Amino acid sequence: MKSSAPAGRGARSVSSALGLGEKVFSTAEERQFASAVEAGLEQVESGLLAAMSFADNLADVTSRYLLDAGGKRVRPTLALLTAQLGKGNSDDVIVAAQAIEIIHLASLYHDDVMDEAQMRRGVPSAQSVWGNSVAILTGDLLFARASKLVAGLGETVIRLQADTFERLCLGQLHETIGPKDDQDPIAHYLDVLADKTGSLIAAAAQIGVILSGAPAGYRAAVTTFGEKVGVAFQLVDDVIDLAPPVDETGKNPGTDLRSGVATLPLLFLRRQAATDPDAADLLTRIERDVNIAQYGEADEVELTAAIAELRAHAVTQQTIDEAHRWAREAVEALAPLPAGPVKKALTRFADSIVERSS
Ligand code: FPP
Ligand code: MG
Repeated sequence: MKSSAPAGRGARSVSSALGLGEKVFSTAEERQFASAVEAGLEQVESGLLAAMSFADNLADVTSRYLLDAGGKRVRPTLALLTAQLGKGNSDDVIVAAQAIEIIHLASLYHDDVMDEAQMRRGVPSAQSVWGNSVAILTGDLLFARASKLVAGLGETVIRLQADTFERLCLGQLHETIGPKDDQDPIAHYLDVLADKTGSLIAAAAQIGVILSGAPAGYRAAVTTFGEKVGVAFQLVDDVIDLAPPVDETGKNPGTDLRSGVATLPLLFLRRQAATDPDAADLLTRIERDVNIAQYGEADEVELTAAIAELRAHAVTQQTIDEAHRWAREAVEALAPLPAGPVKKALTRFADSIVERSS
């Protein structure tokens, strides 16, 4: 999942995409709701700086490196939205939203080591600045810090954090080892996305319900919403990965493909290649060039052209359609929630995720 907003704009980018600062929320109840979420986001943001400071000079710099580099604050926003189903922004909701963002940041340090990524949020990845050991340990430190925050929030939240952490790791592990022989590669890939991304987004949505004292019956609805929105988010990433560079992501087109990740457009192409010679030809060229790129100097012009062909191919539109389907199902899962600003904002949240282009 890419996080591309530059430093200082992060906290506002999702809330403005939701229209919280606009006239979309026009009734008094809606305006009050929008102000509460915006105020909560500011509290989360200012508290994050304190929650992520360390007495050790090096850790103090490395731990806030990716926080300062930007990010959309998707997960805290979601927690604050669902908290408005209950009593709103309590201290516990703010702390839990911070903890979830810190877990997300921790996972990015580790992910960039595993992906050997050069860039993150428009800046050199942590391990390209300090090396793998410092980057891994910074992720561990952040995870410890998040655990300390969660420790005061009660058993339900502690257990949710532990279960979510397990799923994050399993999602990453299953992505690393790939599907088993008897597993459908597309189903396996969607499971990976649900585990490595959907689980933490779903946890964010749940803590808002749990810690605001909202009716317990809403928890299942927002869990399904978060999981499905998370998958939709990743599928949009797969399409953005193929786009020509717009500078903010700090990544080349086809970064995932080049590093050997079989994203959904490629998996759809593989499926189509079994019966379509043109698709088989494109697949052969991409796989050949990616293989050469991994072990030596690929013909950059050929590889970029093949990636552009994949972007224009029907399989990329199929991926976009699939992202929309997951987002639509996410919204359908909200049926048990009462009509009102939370439901309206969550629906916009799902729409903004599939409409984004960076
Ligand atoms: C980014 O995905 C990575 C994740 C969503 C999860 C990574 C999970 C772990 C490393 C395990 C958990 C570890 C800790 C310390 C909490 P991506 O590679 O698809 O997206 P990208 O394009 O942003 O890199
Ligand atoms: Mg990655």
